[in-house]
Order: sequence, then structure tokens, then C-alpha cells
Amino acid sequence: MSPALVMLTCLLLAVAMAPLLLQAATLIGKPGCQTTCGGIDIPYPFGIAMEGVNVSCSLTGFEISCAKNRSGDLVPVLANTEIAIEVLSLSVMPRPEARVRLPVASQCYNSTGGETGPPSYGTVDLNRAGVYRISDAHNELVVLGCNTLAYTNGGPAGGQYGKTFYTGCISYCRDARSAQDGMCAGVGCCHVQIPPNLTDNWMTFDSWSRANQTFSPCDYAFIVEKDHYKFKASDLTTMPVSQTMPLRLDWAIRSNISAMSCAEAMTSPDYACVSQHSECLDSTNGPGYLCNCTRGYEGNPYIVHGCTNIDECSRPEIYRCYGKCKDTPGSYDCTCRMGYQSENPKEQRCTAKFSRAAQLALGISLGISLLILTLLCALMMRQKRRMNEYFKKNGGSVLEKVESIKIFTKDELNKITKNNSEVLGKGGFGKVYKGTLADNTMVAVKESIEINDARKEDFTNEVIIQSQMIHANIIKLLGCCLEVDVPMLVYEFAANGNLHDILHGHGSCRLPFPLDLRLDIAIGSAEGLRYMHSYAKHTIRHGDIKPANILLDEKFVPKISDFGTSKLLTLDKDYTMFPVGSMGYIDPVFYMTGHLTKECDIYSFGVVLLELISRKRTIYGGNLSLIIEFLKAYKQENNGRAIFDKEIATEESMHILEEIGRLAMECLNENVEERPDMNEVAEQLVMLRRARKPKPNLPLCGGFGLIRGLGRVCAFSALSLCF
Ligand SMILES: *[C@@H]1O[C@H](CO)[C@@H](O)[C@H](O)[C@H]1NC(C)=O
Ligand SMILES: *[C@@H]1O[C@H](CO)[C@@H](O)[C@H](O)[C@H]1NC(C)=O
Ligand SMILES: *[C@@H]1O[C@H](CO)[C@@H](O)[C@H](O)[C@H]1NC(C)=O
Ligand SMILES: *[C@@H]1O[C@H](CO)[C@@H](O)[C@H](O)[C@H]1NC(C)=O
Ligand SMILES: *[C@@H]1O[C@H](CO)[C@@H](O)[C@H](O)[C@H]1NC(C)=O
Ligand SMILES: *[C@@H]1O[C@H](CO)[C@@H](O)[C@H](O)[C@H]1NC(C)=O
Ligand SMILES: *[C@@H]1O[C@H](CO)[C@@H](O)[C@H](O)[C@H]1NC(C)=O
Repeated sequence: MSPALVMLTCLLLAVAMAPLLLQAATLIGKPGCQTTCGGIDIPYPFGIAMEGVNVSCSLTGFEISCAKNRSGDLVPVLANTEIAIEVLSLSVMPRPEARVRLPVASQCYNSTGGETGPPSYGTVDLNRAGVYRISDAHNELVVLGCNTLAYTNGGPAGGQYGKTFYTGCISYCRDARSAQDGMCAGVGCCHVQIPPNLTDNWMTFDSWSRANQTFSPCDYAFIVEKDHYKFKASDLTTMPVSQTMPLRLDWAIRSNISAMSCAEAMTSPDYACVSQHSECLDSTNGPGYLCNCTRGYEGNPYIVHGCTNIDECSRPEIYRCYGKCKDTPGSYDCTCRMGYQSENPKEQRCTAKFSRAAQLALGISLGISLLILTLLCALMMRQKRRMNEYFKKNGGSVLEKVESIKIFTKDELNKITKNNSEVLGKGGFGKVYKGTLADNTMVAVKESIEINDARKEDFTNEVIIQSQMIHANIIKLLGCCLEVDVPMLVYEFAANGNLHDILHGHGSCRLPFPLDLRLDIAIGSAEGLRYMHSYAKHTIRHGDIKPANILLDEKFVPKISDFGTSKLLTLDKDYTMFPVGSMGYIDPVFYMTGHLTKECDIYSFGVVLLELISRKRTIYGGNLSLIIEFLKAYKQENNGRAIFDKEIATEESMHILEEIGRLAMECLNENVEERPDMNEVAEQLVMLRRARKPKPNLPLCGGFGLIRGLGRVCAFSALSLCF
């Protein structure tokens, strides 16, 4: 969305919302009715009758007209009165009130004291429907004039003089100078309280002689808001007879024929208090009842949903709270902040619960906790950053994209190896740990070499290639973890350890190792190496072939392992700067050229073959070299019988052993060109295997199961059982 569009949307929304908001905030009249005139609100039950609106905009008796005054402005006036009575304001809450202007009653005289015209009594007949009473609490009766008695009367008929009450006052002046501005106390002006139940503005004058009173030609009488009228002596001569005065009317729900109290009204179908949270109050000025919103609500109780909750907290000057203020429906909660208390936080200040020392202690301990937390956070973030750095350094971004490798997080790996709890052995560069994946697959987790920028690409390439080499006789790389300083590699698990341990055992403890099995292991290893050497685009040289790097799974299937990752070189990089191979297995040609070729692997494999048929280490019997001794034997007798392992050197197998020895000789040929390649080696071994008679069933303890965990079995001398 473009900013302009957003603006427009917001604007449209605001416009759409406005009427709703307005209605919610100013639900003062019936929907569809005009609720204002000349800037003055007309709250229901008042209302302006409107054509075409099929609801009653007002209750009976509360009709308002919107009319033009003499200067042409629209002003609200009471409807259905003899003369237009201008309305100044109308209110429902907190008091039902109508401020109106009513005419001043007057009587004027000529110099001989004769009346100059008929008096104006001020009658307005405002109470045709009976809803109004002149407020006795907020108005007073004022009489102006000299030598004047004026009174009003009202209430239901009764008493000696026909009405319930008469009230008025006398104003007398000795001479023209008697009346004083601001003094309305009987000289030129008098005022008096009025009783309740007053329904009209009707005034009666009863004058003494008015001859020779040019300083006060007229009498005036009017009801006006208390304290509104300030007497001026000049008013005695200059006040116009058409003057009006503001006063307050009380109103209630009633009519002049029937008026119900709350008790009666509540059961009536016309009950006027229709809003929720509204209550009924009996009228205090005249019969009838009023509606009011209950405590905590404001608005218009005469309209459905007219009473709304007051958000007290937004008006702290009215609704005090010395603590934390929270608005609730119809009320508000006020609580002291934590650690402070007050018997009534709405009335009294909150004071600290704890002593300053306790506060200090609390503060300090909180501070320390925070500090520790911050430090911990910082540490964790540093750790995470380091992990990310390692991940990058170790080529994570490249390896992430390789599907066949699973990238383990440090946490996952810790779970897999149970925090490196079981060490399987030592690899080319670091320890190898035993692990268990979530699906209970056993794995070997191996520390790789530390990777620097120069070696990063090599490392990632190696890992990728290794993960792609899928062959039964090559240990499978399952994944790696790069979030550590030294990358960890996760391999398939070889249950039976390595060929070196089986051949040479631990100390003097040796298990029987039949020729067929040796041959099978030789074939498997050769197959693995052949696969490597002929691997599609990259010809891969292992560089460190030796029995310790030929692992055996639970079925003694050999798996070539420990590419050392560093020595895994691709065709375009024949030379290596890094030390390669292990003593006793290194092709002497490599020493001279530093050129790591496939033939180097073949040489090393030749040594492995020798070990298989002799079951001797490359250096044995003190300082005898297996290779040299074998070559010697071969030169002397044209075969290697002298060093063959006695266990397998039977008449029947002699031929095979000699053939293997011959093959080993070829592999060890100093002339690199004359060495066979891995294809030939593997094929020759397979042929030898085929020539063998079917496997005899050797009486071994649980097959070769016992070889598993060789060290342990020896330690328990359990082997004696098998021999
Ligand atoms: C007004 O409403 C009354 C019922 O409330 C109905 O009988 C009458 O027909 C309506 N008049 C108009 C003009 O809609
Ligand atoms: C008419 O009403 C307007 C607005 O209330 C007021 O300002 C003006 O004085 C009135 N005019 C007369 C002649 O009463
Ligand atoms: C005063 O009024 C009376 C009665 O209305 C009349 O008889 C008399 O002539 C008047 N006097 C003057 C001076 O106008
Ligand atoms: C109320 O009384 C007045 C006279 O005082 C009368 O004109 C009017 O019709 C009455 N109103 C009702 C609703 O009866
Ligand atoms: C006003 O009128 C009511 C009933 O209409 C009556 O109960 C009350 O006594 C009257 N008050 C006075 C002061 O006359
Ligand atoms: C009014 O004043 C005149 C002369 O000043 C006098 O003759 C007359 O008696 C006075 N009238 C009254 C009623 O005092
Ligand atoms: C109506 O309620 C408000 C607050 O709830 C209160 O202040 C006011 O006095 C009540 N009005 C009357 C007439 O009792």
C-alpha cells in the first residue's frame, strides 16, 4: 500500500466511524430526531417534532420548537405556550432542569397615580401538560418599585383565599434618592424565596398611591435565578416593560391529570427509565418521578443504552485516587503501588509499607538480580554469536544447502552424545564419541580439524564429497556440527571396532581369525577403495590406508574410514602440504615426490594384505619390518611362507596365502607403474575367494560376536571357554 492510500483508508475509516463514535458519546436524543437547535442540546424526553420520522421525538409535554427570534436566529422555544418561551438550556443529568426566559410582570402609572394601561401579569401558561415546576431551590421572586406590594400564588386550589400559597414582598422609597444600587432589601427592590409546586409566573400588584413618583413610574415583579439579578436604582426608571429574566424550571415525568410515583411507574408500560443502569427517583418539586443513571454511569436514562460507564480515572479532579487507578464498570479501583499502602487510597495518600532500610535492601537485591540476569544474557548472546561465527567459519552457509548432510546444532549434538560421555577412541585429530540419534541409530561423533579461512573451502568440499560417497565399504557421513570451534562430524557406527584391533588385539589376547573372514575383509576394503579411486568427477585418494582405518560393522563388513578429511584430495590438487599417511604404510615413492597418487593407496593396501596373512604388525618382534622380512622370505623361497600366520597356514589354504602374498608384492612394487590398480586387486581377491570351498562352520563362541568388545572379553578371561 502506498502511504497516500493508507492515509485515504484511514480517513475513510475515520469518516465511517465518526457517526458511531458521535452517537456513543452523545446519545442524547432518539435516533433520527433533531437533538440540537441554535447550538443548544435537546435531550430526550425533550424533542423537536419532526415530519416523516415515525418515532416520537419527545415525551408528551416535552415538545420543543425550533423557531426564529426577532433577529432571525434559530432558538429553541417551549412548544404549545401562549407566548414563545425561549429555552436557554435543557438538562437531564444530574438534575432535570430547563433554563428559560420568562417575561417580567409590570404595572405603570401616570403622574396623578392613575394606571397608564392594563398590567402585564407575566402569565405564560407554560404548564399545559403539567411537567414543569418553577424551581424553588434555584430561583427567587424580585419586586422593583417604590411603594409596591407584589406577590405570586400557586398550588392546588384550597385554603381561605383559593390557593395553597401566596408569596411576595413590599418595596418602599421615601424619596428619589432612597434606592441604592446593589441593595435589594426593601428600598426600591425586594426579593423573597418562593415555595415549591409553583406552576406559573403569575404576578399581582397591590400599590399604594403612586402620584408624584416620576422616579419610579412602574412596578416590576419577576422570578429569576438566584443571584442573577443585581439591583440598579436606574432600573426603576429605565427597565423596559418587555424585559425577560432567566430562571430554572424543574421538570418530571407527570401530566396535569395523572402523576405516578416511582412505585407506580415501574410497573407501567410507559415507564420512562428505559436505560440499563438507570434508576427511578420521586420528584421533589411536584408529583411524578425522574430517572437518573445509577452511580458510576452518566448519560441519558430515558433512552435505551443511554447510561454509559464513567471513566473515573480520566477525571481525577472528581474521582480521587492516590494510587493506581483502574476503571471498572460503574466504578473504579484504586490501589497503592507495590510496597505502599493506605487504608483507603481514594481518600488517603499511600505510604511506604517497608522502612527505608528494607526498601534499600529490596532495591539492592533486585538490582543485583537484574545485573546477574543481564550478565547471563550477555554471556548467552556471546555464546550464540560465537556459535554463529564458528558456523560461518566452518562453512555452514555452503553446507546448509547440501541436502545429504544434516547440520546438527551444538545442543542437538550434546544430546546425541550425552555431553560426550562415552569415548570410542581417538581419531586422526581428536576424540571419537559414541552417540545415539533420536531414532536409536548409533553413531560415532568425531572431532575434525580446526578450520581456518585458508582451509574452509577444502573442508566444505571434503565434507560434501564424503557425504556423497555412498558405498557399503565406506563409512557413511551422516552430518556435522559447525557451531563449535572444531567441527564435529557424525558418522555411522561401526560396532566391531577396527581391523587393527582385531588383528593385533590387546596384548597377548587373540581371538581366532579364520582365513575366509580375512579374505572377505580384504575384498570389502578393496571394493571401497576401488569405489573411491573411480569416484565420478573426483578421483579421490585416501592417503592413510591402514588396518586401524578399516572399521568393521556388526557383520564384520569393512568400512573404510578416516579420510582424515585433510587428505582427501581431488584430482586438480595432487600435491599436499600436509603430512600424509602413517609410518609403515607410506609409499616410499611419496617420500621422494610428495605426490599423492592412487598408487600410494595401493602400496598401503599391500601392507594391509601382508598384515592379514601374517597377523603381524608392520614392525614386530622388536625391530623387524614386516615388509622387509616378507621381501626377504620371498627372495629366498619365492614365497612368504615364513611369515604366514600359523593359525591359517594349513596345507589347504597355503595356495591362497601365497597368492595374496604375491598380490601384496605387486602392490609394494617400487616401480609405481607396475603396481596393479584397485580394480585388479579387487578382482584377484574375489577370484581367490571363489576358489575357496564353502565356509566351514567354525565352532566359535556365538560366531564372531565375541570378537566384539575384544578388550573386555580378554580382561574377563572368558576366552578360555572358546578354545
Ligand atoms: C409508524 O409506526 C406505526 C407502528 O409503530 C405504524 O403503525 C405506522 O404505520 C408507521 N407509519 C409510518 C408512516 O411508517
Ligand atoms: C436571537 O438569538 C440569538 C442567539 O441566541 C441571540 O444572540 C440574539 O440576541 C437573539 N435576538 C433577540 C432579538 O432576542
Ligand atoms: C391619569 O390616569 C387617570 C386614569 O387612567 C386619568 O383619569 C388622568 O387624566 C390621567 N392624568 C394624566 C395627567 O394623564
Ligand atoms: C392540562 O390542563 C390544562 C389547563 O390547565 C389543559 O388545557 C390541558 O389540556 C391539560 N392537559 C392534559 C393533558 O390534560
Ligand atoms: C407540593 O405538592 C405535593 C403534591 O402535589 C404535596 O405533597 C406537597 O406538600 C406540596 N408542597 C408544598 C410546600 O406545598
Ligand atoms: C402632588 O404634588 C402636587 C404639587 O407638587 C401637590 O399639589 C399634590 O397634592 C401632590 N399629590 C399627592 C397625591 O401627594
Ligand atoms: C443523579 O445521579 C447523580 C450521580 O449518580 C447524582 O449526583 C445526582 O444528584 C442524581 N440526581 C438526582 C436528581 O438525584
